[in-house]
Amino acid sequence: MGIYGERVLPRIINAACGMKANDPHRRRVCAGLEGDVVEIGFGSGLNVPFYPEAVTRVAAVEPADAGWNLAAKRVKASNVAIERAGLDGQSLPFEDDSFDSAVSTWTLCTIPDVATALREVRRVLKPGATLHFVEHGLAPDEKVQRCQHRFEPVQKRLFGGCHLTRPIVDLLTGAGFTITELDVFYEDGAPKLVAADSLGVAVSP
Ligand SMILES: C[S@@+](CC[C@H](N)C(=O)[O-])C[C@H]1O[C@@H](n2cnc3c(N)ncnc32)[C@H](O)[C@@H]1O
Repeated sequence: MGIYGERVLPRIINAACGMKANDPHRRRVCAGLEGDVVEIGFGSGLNVPFYPEAVTRVAAVEPADAGWNLAAKRVKASNVAIERAGLDGQSLPFEDDSFDSAVSTWTLCTIPDVATALREVRRVLKPGATLHFVEHGLAPDEKVQRCQHRFEPVQKRLFGGCHLTRPIVDLLTGAGFTITELDVFYEDGAPKLVAADSLGVAVSP
């Protein structure tokens, strides 16, 4: 990956994803998480302050050492037991039916084989357990979509393979999830092409 991908990019992501404007979305997406939780694309642990009391343990899945290192203070300050338990959402080192909830925030854009990752999340969730998500992806407006398609190659090169045009809802339902809560919106204060979010809850059958 090189120095940019391994050391610089995780710091850029920590700063960009750590903007206060994201806090209300993190609070909403983490509400309702409970029990043993798997978080894919844990990054620098920016969701940690928002885990509800009902969360007992978090298995963090994160490939970037620098991201995990940046999370150290948040992990230490948390009452929740958090361990880096995996490196790749596409191949989760967990038994079937082993988690009560899962969470993913702005991560499905970046995982190379996102369909495989979502099947993996379903496999490790107990039947009836929920995946809580907020993800940017293909915008609802055609004009924005055209910009997204044009800019996507640049975005992928600059931001570690981040796609702009992934159809988040279709990916979730295609992996067998049933979406029970969904809010589609543009984040305030960010260019629409990178800020077309889907926030909600999906149930694993
Ligand atoms: C835009 S960042 C979001 C980080 C964090 N979820 C947040 O909300 O701040 C995308 C994250 O996905 C991680 N990632 C990339 N490929 C991955 C993979 N195959 N499995 C799991 N996470 C991955 C990146 O290292 C990065 O931490």
